[in-house]
Parts: sequence; structure tokens; C-alpha cells
Amino acid sequence: MLHILHETHRASQCVKAGRSWLTCLMKHCTVCYNGFCADVGSVVLKQAIVVTSLVVAVIGVKLYVDHEVRHIRRHFDGEIRNLQSDKKTFSEIYKTHSFWGTPEHLSGLASAKKYAMPCIEYVQNFINTTELKTIYDFGCGSYEWMQHVVVPKNVQYYGVDVVDSVIQANKEQYEKDNIHFVGIDSTDDFMKYKGDLLIVKDVFDCWNTERTQYFLDNVLPNFRYAIIVGYYSLNGKNNRACDATGPAHNRDMEAAPFNLKCKESKIYEIHFDEEGKQSTAYKKIVLWVNPTYVSQGGNGESS
Ligand SMILES: C[S@@+](CC[C@H](N)C(=O)[O-])C[C@H]1O[C@@H](n2cnc3c(N)ncnc32)[C@H](O)[C@@H]1O
Repeated sequence: MLHILHETHRASQCVKAGRSWLTCLMKHCTVCYNGFCADVGSVVLKQAIVVTSLVVAVIGVKLYVDHEVRHIRRHFDGEIRNLQSDKKTFSEIYKTHSFWGTPEHLSGLASAKKYAMPCIEYVQNFINTTELKTIYDFGCGSYEWMQHVVVPKNVQYYGVDVVDSVIQANKEQYEKDNIHFVGIDSTDDFMKYKGDLLIVKDVFDCWNTERTQYFLDNVLPNFRYAIIVGYYSLNGKNNRACDATGPAHNRDMEAAPFNLKCKESKIYEIHFDEEGKQSTAYKKIVLWVNPTYVSQGGNGESS
């Protein structure tokens, strides 16, 4: 038990003599714990106070460090998912036509009709032969290739992108009864969307592995089908680790580390021939079918 024995008479004499309460307390009060007593001002007690202060300080530092580590982790996770920075990065790319874009082909040359024809035909055939109510085109860019796919009137198409200027331009140029464009601030905003077909073309090529996996884990389950298209290397140089959003990286969703179980895939060749410069590239289309999809009912729009 902790006791404070207060020598009232001597302490009040001390105060009367003009000393401070603290000084008098130190001189004339005794603290006892489990039968062991020490003057408040004694060396033992001072040491106990120093040790206690040290312990409190160490605990305080630990709590502070833990808090900072949690903060850094949260920030790092945010970087993986790139919660806000996509908007900045991709808006800048559209403004400066850096990496893939040109003033004529804002979303990249590979999206021009003459180069994207195999993809247009694949998606068209899928839409014509599958019962769908909604299509979400994640990272739709300037709607360059998708405008050549005929979306039946009873199917709602939503082009979604993080770049406001491109969404605004699409709205002004292409929006009609069943063709809509939606701006989002981050990938996380897209997680509330559910629908029949998800199209993701040439988006993962610009993302790192962690963010792509995060998308696969958290967004794909909301859809019944996904058609994913990206640059592909015939000699297996796909899915190289990359840490930053930047120029295209070859992707093979069916290979490690993604190992997405797909129903079918198709590789197509593009012969670029621009201003006398020729080059060849390959794209892989995969069709993923959700094995656990439960119909959302209604029109399948975002919840
Ligand atoms: C190379 S472009 C491809 C555009 C279009 N899919 C095509 O094939 O023409 C990549 C697009 O993905 C969009 N994008 C990248 N990260 C995104 C994100 N987190 N959310 C939505 N769109 C994103 C970019 O703004 C850009 O329009």
C-alpha cells in the first residue's frame, strides 16, 4: 500500500518561514510503500521518479514510433493502390502526350481503329453472343477503339477514367442514351461498381504488379466477365516487376504472379507503320469468367 505521511506541523512551519510548498513537501513529507518509507526529497525517491519518468518517456516514444509506422504503412499501401496519384500522373500524360499519347490518338496509337481491329472484333463478337445488361470500360481513355464497337440499345456502357478532361470530352462527343462516361478519383472509387462485363484495355501495362493484383482481388469479383487486353511479349518477357506508373510493360494475366484462370485468350499482332517508321508489337486478350458470380438483380448498375 502507498502512503504519504505528512508532517503537518513542520511542513506548515516551513511554509510560514516563507519557503515554497514544493520545498516544504520535499523536506517534511515521507512516502511509504509496503512498509518501505523514504523522504519525498530523498535520493531513493528521486531515483524512483527518474526511473518512472524514463519508463514513461520510453513508452511515449514507442507509442509515437508505432503511430508513425502505421502512418507510413498506410501511406505505402496508398501508394500501392495509388489512391490519388493516378489522377495527377495520367492527367499530366494526357496534357503532355508523353509515354503513349499523340494529339491524334490520346489513348495511344494502338487504340487507333486500324491497329485495334482484332480487339474491336473480339469484343463485338462477345457482346453479340452474350446476354449483358452493363459494360464497364475501366480506363476508357478517349474512347478511341471502343467507339467502333456497336453496343446494343438494351445494354448500358459506362466508360470510366481517372482523367477528368478526357471524360468531359467523351461526354460532349459521344454520350447518348446507353453510352455514359464517369470520372473517378481513384481505383478505390471503382470498387462500388458491379456489372456484367468489365473491359480493361492497356491499363495494367501502366501499373506495377502490386496495384494490378490489388485490382484483380478487389474489383474482378464484382463482375461476371472481364476482358483484359495488354501488350504482350512472345518470348515470355512479361510481368516484369516495375515500381512506378510509366511506359507500357508487357503483361500476361495468365502467367505468374497473376495466374488468372481465364476461359480463353487470343494474341494479335500489330504492325505499326507511321511516317515511314515500322515496328511490330503483340497484344494479348484474355476472357475471364467469374466462377462465383451471383447476379446482382436490377440493371446491375453501381450500388
Ligand atoms: C494507355 S491508356 C488506355 C486507354 C483505353 N483503355 C484504350 O485502350 O484506348 C490507359 C488509361 O487508363 C487510365 N487509368 C489509369 N489509372 C487509372 C485509374 N486508377 N482509374 C481509372 N483510370 C485509370 C488512364 O487515365 C488512361 O486513360
